[in-house]
Amino acid sequence: MLEKVQKLKESFLSHLNQASSTAALDAIRIEFLGKKGEVSLLLNNLKSLPGDVRKEAGRIINDAKQYMEEQIRAKTAELSALEEKKKIDSAESYDESLPLPLSLGSYHPITLIQREVEEIFSSMGFIVEDYDEVVDDYHCFEALNIPKYHPARDMQDTYYLDNGQLLKTHTSAAQNYIMRKYGAPVRAIFPGRCFRNESPDACHENTFFQLEGIMIDRDISISNLIYFMKTMLSEVFRQDITVRLRPGFFPFVEPGFELDISCTICGGKGCPSCKNSGWLELCPCGMIHPNVLRFGGIDPEEYTGFAFGLGLTRLAMMKYGIKDIRILNSGNLKALSQFTDR
Ligand code: DAH
Repeated sequence: MLEKVQKLKESFLSHLNQASSTAALDAIRIEFLGKKGEVSLLLNNLKSLPGDVRKEAGRIINDAKQYMEEQIRAKTAELSALEEKKKIDSAESYDESLPLPLSLGSYHPITLIQREVEEIFSSMGFIVEDYDEVVDDYHCFEALNIPKYHPARDMQDTYYLDNGQLLKTHTSAAQNYIMRKYGAPVRAIFPGRCFRNESPDACHENTFFQLEGIMIDRDISISNLIYFMKTMLSEVFRQDITVRLRPGFFPFVEPGFELDISCTICGGKGCPSCKNSGWLELCPCGMIHPNVLRFGGIDPEEYTGFAFGLGLTRLAMMKYGIKDIRILNSGNLKALSQFTDR
């Protein structure tokens, strides 16, 4: 038996010496120490030996087994260190002082224009407020002087929830909330996502953005409205903008207007973009209706104010030359990532 074990050890060592990778070592481990390996075979044969010889033989085999295990462990450590070093040495080298090709993503055009308009109004003393997208009928219509069954509701069909709430159709829905929150005097703008039951085409979307503003104080007049709109739009378009008002009907303002700006493409001479009129329709506005002030807890005998509902989506399209509104909600990064701050 001693001889057999000795031979096995020799054969093991010669295999071990030839092994040059951890994978080869693994194969040797299986061949000699595996369940059906050489050592197991010897141990199985012990059964046929007489008692006292068996004990001694068992000890010898187990010593040899232990010896082999240690050898494999040591050689595995040695070879895996070598293999790791080889990997490191052959890795592609790089200069860590070089700048990385960073891609930081980009802002959505609506975000860009919203931030810009917010900054301009903030500099003129307006606070920026956020408001819910799911609102109740009172805030979206009643408090804006649009009672149930008023025909003005037809243009603002929207998505209703089972509990009677609805997705707000315009940012005007926050007017009452702002009036109640701050009282008068107040200057506030409130941008937001709006929803309407609309069949989408190049100019219509069921989801779009507006930016509403109100200014309420003693002796506020249409002149104030014109001044603030002109200042803001001249900043956004980085050129002197001429505005004009046409009458427009909205139940929550009296008088109500459609505000047009001189065409930014042709400067007012007339071109295809402004249908040769020289003007672009941009922003409905007006003097806040006394009923709306009253609903907001403000005395219309003491205070007056103006309100406007800037189409943020429309403004972004004009500023960035976006021809199809559907691009804005498309998630098409190729189209949406081309716009930058300035
Ligand atoms: N909320 C109106 C709409 O979406 C727009 C609007 C008109 C807002 C006149 C105003 C305003 O503040 O004074 O159709």
